[in-house]
Amino acid sequence: MSKRRLRDLPAEALDGKRALVRVDFNVPLRDGAVSDDSRIRAALPTIQYLRDKGARVVLLSHLGRPKGGPDPKYSLKQIVRDVERLLGVPVEFIADPAAGGAVTRRLPRGGVAVVENTRFWAGEEQNDPQLAQTFAALGDFYVNDAFGAAHRAHSSTETVAHLLKPAVTGFLMEKELRYLGEALVDPKRPFVAVLGGAKISGKIDVIEALLPRVDEILIGGAMACTFFVALGLEVGTSLVEPDRVDLARTLLAKSGRKLILPRGAVIAPSLERAAERKDVTADQIPPGWAVYDIDRATQVDFRARVLRAKTTVWNGPMGVFETPPFDAGTRAVAEALVEAGAKGAVTIVGGGDSAAAVAGLEDKLTHVSTGGGASLEFLEGKPLPGVAALEDA
Ligand code: 3PG
Repeated sequence: MSKRRLRDLPAEALDGKRALVRVDFNVPLRDGAVSDDSRIRAALPTIQYLRDKGARVVLLSHLGRPKGGPDPKYSLKQIVRDVERLLGVPVEFIADPAAGGAVTRRLPRGGVAVVENTRFWAGEEQNDPQLAQTFAALGDFYVNDAFGAAHRAHSSTETVAHLLKPAVTGFLMEKELRYLGEALVDPKRPFVAVLGGAKISGKIDVIEALLPRVDEILIGGAMACTFFVALGLEVGTSLVEPDRVDLARTLLAKSGRKLILPRGAVIAPSLERAAERKDVTADQIPPGWAVYDIDRATQVDFRARVLRAKTTVWNGPMGVFETPPFDAGTRAVAEALVEAGAKGAVTIVGGGDSAAAVAGLEDKLTHVSTGGGASLEFLEGKPLPGVAALEDA
């Protein structure tokens, strides 16, 4: 169902009004500094649009998973400088949302404030209506641009959307829903999904949901090993989920020829002994060795399949990509997507690890999602509470 959008609101609904904007500023920090500001940059079109229209912009976000209240390690104060740098204007910080109303009313037209981490208040993750009321008092209307947190039914993503009207999608949210939605509903074919990562358990629902829609699902990552075991192959000391082997067997049986497993693997005695790595076919993995990447033959095969596709959705790395040389398979898939995109194919990359794997290539891909868990749940066909709560168009 389509949702009311920020771009559809008339000028008078914005001018001088306080826009309470839920963003996903859950960014990685190193020594108190933002080490990857992609998520902040992704929210800039919404923030700038609101500023240009004379709104006062109040930004709400979570950061990390603080347990049991405020923790300076997760304070959003640490990102204020980055927001100022990216926007080129001073940004106010509201440490306590319950006392923030006056600050939001004092903001000039086009002014910006960041509220402290929503998860510093116990009610947030319980979707507490009282806390949602406290957040709602900081704005005159609500914009949700936090696709990455839209699968969470929290006070700042769900209940607050029922308390403030209009409640609309921001530009980032709109873009995420459009690209991911079009891929699912009306993909240009052939439609290929590439799924990787360590665990099959986190991807079962995606595989099940995508099977009827896609032409092929290419499987990589340690997850492939659980399928290898289901086929009766030796996988040495590779990461396997023994309790998912039966399920892998069922999926293989019902997928027909749609599930494409790696032809072979890059194996080594351990991650530390990478120098001894070698390519073997899937039926030649010796005891005592482990799979750390897809092999060269699989890279060639997957590349050819991605190049034949008119739509590719990718989620999850093909190997231990953060530990070179076991990044080669993941890089090969990234390059194949870029190549397919240059020939006119639609190329969509899920958030999280996959987004990290294509860092620097964003301009050459149709869409790189800012949501890890959220993009997976979307592909599983689950409703996202943060989206469902917004007004219908
Ligand atoms: C993410 O990083 O995927 C989102 O910001 C959601 O974070 P969460 O998994 O801690 O809810």
